[in-house]
Amino acid sequence: MQLVKILAGAAIALAAIQLVPYGRDHSNPPVSGEPKWDSPRTVELFDRACKNCHSNETVWPWYASVAPASWLAQLDVSLGRSKFNVSEWGRSEENEGDEAAAEVRKGKMPPFFYLPAHPEAKLSVVEQEELAKGLAATFGEDKPEQK
Ligand code: HEC
Repeated sequence: MQLVKILAGAAIALAAIQLVPYGRDHSNPPVSGEPKWDSPRTVELFDRACKNCHSNETVWPWYASVAPASWLAQLDVSLGRSKFNVSEWGRSEENEGDEAAAEVRKGKMPPFFYLPAHPEAKLSVVEQEELAKGLAATFGEDKPEQK
């Protein structure tokens, strides 16, 4: 009986958190400006590993509609876009594109927790370097003093 109660409680809790509105709208605002990419290869790698969180062309998977995964997805995309958004090039207030190459080289982007659900985003060492070079050529490169 105890187990039934626990399971029922869990089911109710899971149902209840679906009612939280955060993370539901899955908005993809219009693309208002794009950077001048250095090569199609950079775009290809960026699309695979970065686009979902750093552009307005996010592909929202089904589980992004189910809390609590939906909250995490919404948070990542909102935060990611606010820092570096290739779909609002020249318009968004903040643009940390010049840190992109370093983030990739350090293995900080794409975030490790993104990879299990998105194996296509995993870059080999060679691809990582290819992307970093392309990002540096496209967005410039910040001197790696900070962080
Ligand atoms: C799962 C979503 C996600 C993916 C995929 C992703 N990023 Fe990010 N990115 C974020 C978030 C969230 C932040 C802001 C928080 C932080 O700094 O960790 C961020 C921050 C950044 C920043 C700003 C610098 C900084 O550390 O704040 C750069 C540049 C960046 N990402 C580049 C990339 C590149 C290049 C890729 C692909 C190789 C990528 N990101 C893939 C979510 C993502």
